Amino acid sequence: MKTIKVGMLGIGNVGSGTYLALEMNSAAIEKSAGVHLEIAKILNRRPDVKRAVEVPREKYTSDPYEIINDPEIEIIVEVMGGIEPASTYMADALRAGKHVVTANKAALAVNGEMLQKLAMENHVMLRFEASVGGGIPIINAVADPLVSNQYDEVLGILNGTTNYILTKMTENGADYDDVLKDAQKKGFAEADPSGDVEGYDTANKLSILISLLFGKGILPGDIPTTGITSVSGIDISYATEFGYKIKLIGHAKKTPDGLTYSVEPTLLPLAHPMAAVSNEFNAVFVRGNAVDELMFYGKGAGPLPTGSAVLGDVIDIANCIAKKAAFDIQPLLHYDSKLPSIGEGSSQYYMRMTAIDQPGILGHIASTFAKHDIGLQSVMQRAGDNDRKTSVPLIFICYNVERQVLNACLEEIREEGYATSIDAVMRVQDR
Ligand SMILES: NC(=O)c1ccc[n+]([C@@H]2O[C@H](COP(=O)([O-])OP(=O)(O)OC[C@H]3O[C@@H](n4cnc5c(N)ncnc54)[C@H](OP(=O)(O)O)[C@@H]3O)[C@@H](O)[C@H]2O)c1
Repeated sequence: MKTIKVGMLGIGNVGSGTYLALEMNSAAIEKSAGVHLEIAKILNRRPDVKRAVEVPREKYTSDPYEIINDPEIEIIVEVMGGIEPASTYMADALRAGKHVVTANKAALAVNGEMLQKLAMENHVMLRFEASVGGGIPIINAVADPLVSNQYDEVLGILNGTTNYILTKMTENGADYDDVLKDAQKKGFAEADPSGDVEGYDTANKLSILISLLFGKGILPGDIPTTGITSVSGIDISYATEFGYKIKLIGHAKKTPDGLTYSVEPTLLPLAHPMAAVSNEFNAVFVRGNAVDELMFYGKGAGPLPTGSAVLGDVIDIANCIAKKAAFDIQPLLHYDSKLPSIGEGSSQYYMRMTAIDQPGILGHIASTFAKHDIGLQSVMQRAGDNDRKTSVPLIFICYNVERQVLNACLEEIREEGYATSIDAVMRVQDR
């Protein structure tokens, strides 16, 4: 039986999970794929630190180029994270004729096209199933058997930490800060959670999905991104009254004017399948012109689920090597130069503002919306919760409007002095 040697850059959560998944399943892999996979060398800059898996010490090296330039190693698994030096190591590995498997969304979102081109030039594969949705098999599904589809829309709950926090805020009526502390205690949020809660991690993954589904290169920094830190319990409870759940959604949609995209807390109708995705689970919902609606659901993180996705890519490559089959292309290329990129585009929006409690104020505000040609679908006025009742919360859901038009209208409402503050503005998913 042919042995295929694999080198691994990094032995943290995902590296250990990959190593363990191979240990658990090597007999089955040999039976089904007909190859013996051997993790031959591992980059470990701190060999004395205890790792989650027992690895023979002689497999460790502190020099990445001992792996990248090893003529016996055919596949390199990059599970270090970060844009650099991971991107440079992957590029050098591809140039050296190695196949590369990575879980690194941050590096792919910025350098995916460059790495894809290098893979093609060197007749090797770049595979990245674990980079979006961890253990959920989304990438290979949309890039391969469903390639017969033109995609119109994608919605992703792509970050387990934020979904866990929003779920607990919804279920328990708890405040953001308390739930974050609880999530940190349970290991669902990092000590520094900013990459997750500010939406940057979701933007990295959305950038990869946009590349795959729509052939556009949108850097994560160019995706309008709002995290969940300003979502309050009060908005969650108003959203519930209107029949919605608030989720952090990475969204992209083809419209007649171009591609719209954003990462932001979004009100999802309770009947939408994504509204039921709770706790640390992730999901990706796509609409294709042939397949119609599809949803992928599962654990978006964790050593073993993510490690199993990494290992799946390794097995696919090993299969191709063993069968001398043509290497497939995972298109991270930006082929659609005709599709304009237009950012947020238009949508329905939920708004909460604090208004002066005087007769006629609601009418004034409604007429400012009308002046900007913004139709209101729902309006709710609540009794003020301050003793002297000098202000009241007003909640609106408007029909489709461009975000810039809405912003200008809200600014005018503020300048007119009828609303003392605009407290929340969130996208509403129509269907
Ligand atoms: N964790 C998940 O559930 C998950 C899910 C999907 C995708 N991912 C992606 O998978 C990748 C790895 O994540 P992880 O959670 O496994 O991270 P991690 O636990 O921090 O592991 C990273 C590993 O890489 C090593 N490393 C980092 N920079 C290095 C450098 N410059 N030189 C040598 N070694 C270096 C670290 O060494 P030390 O241990 O010595 O620091 C560690 O062994 C990231 O791209 C992440 O976004 C993670």
